[in-house]
Amino acid sequence: MTQNFAPTFDNWTVVILAAGQGKRMRSAVAKVLHPLAGRPMVRYVVDAARAAGFGRCIVVVGADAGDLRAALGEGVEYAVQREPLGTGHALASAKDAVGDAEHVLVLNGDVPLIAPETLAALARQHMDAGGDVTFLTTEVDDAGAYGCVQRDGDGRVTDIVEAPERSGLAEGPAEINAGQYCFRAAWLWTHIEAVPASAGGERYLTSLIPLAARESATVVPVAVDEASEVQGINDRAELAEAEALMRQRINRGHLLTGVTIIDPATAYIDADVVIGQDTVIEPNTHLRGATAIGDNSRIGPDSTVRDATIGERCQIVSSTVEEATLEDDVDVGPYSHIRAGTHLSSGVHIGNYAEVKNARLGRGVKMGHFSYIGDADVGEETNIGAGTITCNYDGTEKHRTRIGRGAFIGSDTMLVAPVTIGHGARTAAGSVVTKDVPDGVLVAGAPARVTRSTGKERQP
Ligand code: UD1
Ligand code: CA
Repeated sequence: MTQNFAPTFDNWTVVILAAGQGKRMRSAVAKVLHPLAGRPMVRYVVDAARAAGFGRCIVVVGADAGDLRAALGEGVEYAVQREPLGTGHALASAKDAVGDAEHVLVLNGDVPLIAPETLAALARQHMDAGGDVTFLTTEVDDAGAYGCVQRDGDGRVTDIVEAPERSGLAEGPAEINAGQYCFRAAWLWTHIEAVPASAGGERYLTSLIPLAARESATVVPVAVDEASEVQGINDRAELAEAEALMRQRINRGHLLTGVTIIDPATAYIDADVVIGQDTVIEPNTHLRGATAIGDNSRIGPDSTVRDATIGERCQIVSSTVEEATLEDDVDVGPYSHIRAGTHLSSGVHIGNYAEVKNARLGRGVKMGHFSYIGDADVGEETNIGAGTITCNYDGTEKHRTRIGRGAFIGSDTMLVAPVTIGHGARTAAGSVVTKDVPDGVLVAGAPARVTRSTGKERQP
């Protein structure tokens, strides 16, 4: 995030709990893999721990967690919880992997808005206070599914009471357990096996708190002011709330680094998107995945850009750009679709109702009106007339079309691929080009035949 902490937490290991079934999501996808602003939610937790200055990170996963491992990759280690028998059981499953770290930071994998600064402060307080257990709490209006912190008359924490255990009790404002804990490892590992099973058969990590309180171990609650930072995600309503919060956070980051966002409420920008200074994001614009946009561009209104690289001074209006590269000074739209594998060189103009797929358009190519260019290479300064179509598919295979530099493709030309149009060549309106066209000639008709020279057979 904004600050870089030195890796001060050397003798620590982080354990991220991510093996729960997430039943409340009602999904075939593991809860912690549901994306928030384009990133699996558990990745935010990993990234926050890293940014806070923690080194080793062990993610507790279920027995069949190929997708989770694929999403998080090699940067973290894994421990397997064979059956989802509760958060206490999950933490116990990581014991061998943790090894001999002095302190363990335990994080719920479904609390993605947590800030690195908060985690670093939690760990510092744990060390300063000599805590056996230090954990984050916050005040909420409605305890809902959270565990409620119980204190005695002197304000000492005595227990965390989980929702299933307080059924029938009136809900309301409460101090809740936020789901981030620091443990002195020696204390943790001598007590984790003593965690009892709940009535529902789960071993709650939070049962360590009453255990610690009873034997007068040092329990340190640390309050977070902003409850939204520790919002847990259990169902899709909470996912949508967290998405909105994350979006605000991301948009604010861009606003403060010199991007104009006309209406932040309708700018949907994924976490990994990079935007240059003085670029303007118009309303109802979606910037997805690994998109990067240069300085002084204008995207939107009503546009989607996904996994694309956009240069400087580009404009995209009411259009969709996916897995494509636009160099500088390119303009697209309204109502065009730039698809995977497209490369638009500097100064290319794509007007309305155009589709470009897997094609390279050279510098200054103009393609102003409804047309389809797919599987093609177009030389610089060539003009693509209205209604031009590369007939790239013969029903079995795709074929390439090559168009030279400074060519002029007349309106309504069909280019039946594989076919090559020479430099400086022209096709008359309505041509159906089935054979290669040499440099500098005009072809016309269906099928198109050479009718005369264009006088442009020499191109620079
Ligand atoms: C938990 C806490 C609750 C706290 C809340 C904060 C417990 C018992 N309760 O409740 O006090 O207020 O988080 O958000 O810990 N997981 C496993 N294995 C399991 C079960 C869960 O790895 O067997 C993982 C889940 O994937 C999830 C995390 O642990 O990332 C928390 O589990 P969840 O079931 O969501 O706990 P809550 O009911 O939210
Ligand atoms: Ca939860």
